[in-house]
Parts: sequence; C-alpha cells; structure tokens
Amino acid sequence: MDSAIERVLLSEEEIGKRVKELAEEIRNDFPNGDLILIGVLKGSVIFVADLMRAMNINVTMDFMAVSSYGTSSETSGVVRILKDLDFDIEGKDVIIAEDIIDTGTTLKYLYEYLKARNPRSLKICCLLDKPARRKVDIEGDYVGFRIPDAFVVGYGLDFAEKYRNLPYIGVLKEDVYKK
Ligand code: XMP
Ligand code: MG
Repeated sequence: MDSAIERVLLSEEEIGKRVKELAEEIRNDFPNGDLILIGVLKGSVIFVADLMRAMNINVTMDFMAVSSYGTSSETSGVVRILKDLDFDIEGKDVIIAEDIIDTGTTLKYLYEYLKARNPRSLKICCLLDKPARRKVDIEGDYVGFRIPDAFVVGYGLDFAEKYRNLPYIGVLKEDVYKK
C-alpha cells in the first residue's frame, strides 16, 4: 500500500465487480446501444475505460474538461468549461460518467449544460457518491458506491495529480492534504 494511504476503502476486486454490474444495468436500459458516454476529465478516465469495455453494446466516448475554482480538495462552486464535446448530442442517448459526486456542483452544472443541447436522454453514472456532502440537488442514475465523507484517491482520483494510478480507492492520510 502507498505510504500516503490511511486505509483501502475499495479494493481492486470490489471495484471491478461493481463496474461490471453498472455496465450490465446500463446495457439493460439501452439494449440497442448507440450510447454516448461522456467522461469528465481527468478523474473519470479509468472508470470510463473499464465501464465501456464491460458494456458489450455500441458506445462512443467523448470527454469534457471542467475546472472548479478552489483548492484541490474543496470545490468553490464556480465551474468553467476547459474542453467541450467533439460531437453533437442532439437526439442521442447520453450518459455522463463521473468519478465522484461530492457537493454536486460540477455535475449539476454539466447536467444543465448538456440538457440544453437536447439529447434524447441524459443520465448520470458515477463511481462514487458522498451524499453527506451534497449542497445542490442532483443524484446519479447509476451509482457505484456510496462512501463516507473522507478524501479518497486512486482509480483515477487524485490529490494534486498524484495517486490516479492506484488500482484501489483509498483514504488519503490527513497530514498529506492538510500540510
Ligand atoms: P463536486 O463538489 O462539484 O465535486 O461534486 C466533484 C469533484 O470534486 C473532486 N472531489 C474529489 N477528488 N477525492 C478526489 O480525488 C475526493 O474525495 C473528492 N471529492 C471531490 C473530484 O474532482 C470531483 O469530480
Ligand atoms: Mg473530477
């Protein structure tokens, strides 16, 4: 285990199993495929890669990059679009894939932004959900794990761009992000 990690919250095996279940749920809802999966950079990259390979339906991927002003462990509520979609989503079935819903600010903004482009359907799939931290009214349609209020890293999630490559999700030691 990395020395910055206090404890493993979700093992590689648990994540793998749950991602396959999410992919199956989505496939059941969209058996004909033709989905557009929109990953939010960079935290969702590993999740999107695993999710789409487990889906077994036609799916295209696109990415958006957003930045919320603030420090790396707290979001400020102001969202700025750094990279927009490459494709037109009008009339399409679209799923936003996020690493984590925390206060919900980022996803709420993205949801409204994409909804305005008139997709046929728009769903939210998030690997992690911290319901205790929610500040705005938004929920995932497909949720991997509900987790307690702790700062987590790994499987795409970072602290100051580190730890994204950990195969598990772990709670970061407090002294790593408080110093
Ligand atoms: P909001 O508050 O807008 O935040 O729902 C979502 C974004 O905040 C980041 N975030 C985290 N990143 N470990 C991380 O590595 C965490 O525990 C965590 N909580 C929030 C993340 O970028 C997410 O997209
Ligand atoms: Mg993120």
